[in-house]
Amino acid sequence: MSAPNKSYDPVEVEALKPEEIERMRDEAVAAIAAATDLEALREVKVAHTGDRSPLALANREIGALPPHAKADAGKRVGQARGAVNKALKARQEELEAERDARVLVEEAVDVTLPYDRRPAGARHPMTSFADRIADVFAALGYRVAEGPEVETEWFNFDALNFPPDHPAREMQDTFFVERDGVADSGVVLRTHTSPVQIRSLIGQEPPVYVICPGRVYRTDELDATHTPVFTQVELLAVDEGLTMADLKGTLDHMVQALFGEGMRTRLRPNFFPFTEPSAEMDMVCYVCRGESVGNPDRPCRTCSSEGWIELGGCGMVNPRVLTACGVDPEKYSGFAFGFGIERMLMFRHDIEDMRDIVEGDVRFTLPFGMEI
Ligand code: FA5
Repeated sequence: MSAPNKSYDPVEVEALKPEEIERMRDEAVAAIAAATDLEALREVKVAHTGDRSPLALANREIGALPPHAKADAGKRVGQARGAVNKALKARQEELEAERDARVLVEEAVDVTLPYDRRPAGARHPMTSFADRIADVFAALGYRVAEGPEVETEWFNFDALNFPPDHPAREMQDTFFVERDGVADSGVVLRTHTSPVQIRSLIGQEPPVYVICPGRVYRTDELDATHTPVFTQVELLAVDEGLTMADLKGTLDHMVQALFGEGMRTRLRPNFFPFTEPSAEMDMVCYVCRGESVGNPDRPCRTCSSEGWIELGGCGMVNPRVLTACGVDPEKYSGFAFGFGIERMLMFRHDIEDMRDIVEGDVRFTLPFGMEI
């Protein structure tokens, strides 16, 4: 800094000459305008507004002026510094806006691009639904039981009280398995899940409470309501003192757990060799809840306006079956039911054709999503 200026002439303080201040200002403003990015602008800022910048040094010279000249010089330097700061701020904003616009373009994400080229899988609704049914009973303390799909005739028919050559065997058109060239080998593809009743009872002292979902086979043609390979769920309960009322309560609990509050079942007389008495079980149509009956204004496709949907067969375990399994029918009684899951899935999801369920087209499976 210059020594105090006794014989005052501000014009002689070089750095404070008006044209000199203007030059510093113009140089700074030009450098600011020439900065092409924020890094360059930072350097320009240090050079033209920092402690060692020409305007900062000129500012210090003011102290060397006599008091009456300080205001004038201070005003000039202040205005120049103000102009530089204003230009800096404006350029800073300009460059930041440019950077933001560039980043938006460079880092843009095209959300319409496929996020994963490998299609994600989904569980088949049959698998999810069978698991859900099993869960309802597992929660009541039932054990999930399994049996072989290639089964002996004894388990599939004889032990279930189908007499040999009795027409009842033809109720379920059977695939016979040829063994060593012998067609009538005594081995079949199981026609229902009821042989699992036998497998669960043999060698086990009741109480027995089992639920068994599984694949079964019949010589039916594939059409909108039949498939030669389908899935049944079998339930068996054997204990002391079980009655038809327990069967009815269990069925009602199941349809409420699977289809919602207020659902109920009804029983109609039927015949199965392995249950006595036997019944066909229906459930209230869960679409119209029975309101389509006698109401032509509200026809229901799901139940054909009958108000009820057929689920499958059920009954009290025939004492002959208990005896065949070594269980004392004087001490124990039991109930059982079995139904087809494909048909239940059809009316639950308004599926018109069973072939959609079994043909394995992933376009059918995906809308059901992933259930864990
Ligand atoms: C039986 O298979 C008995 N085992 C059910 C049973 C178990 C009765 C325990 C008593 C006690 P049924 O032949 O009616 O019954 O078959 C049961 C269900 O399987 C039918 O109601 C139907 O939903 C389903 N079903 C039968 N055939 C086919 C088929 N070809 N395709 C799809 N589902 C079928």
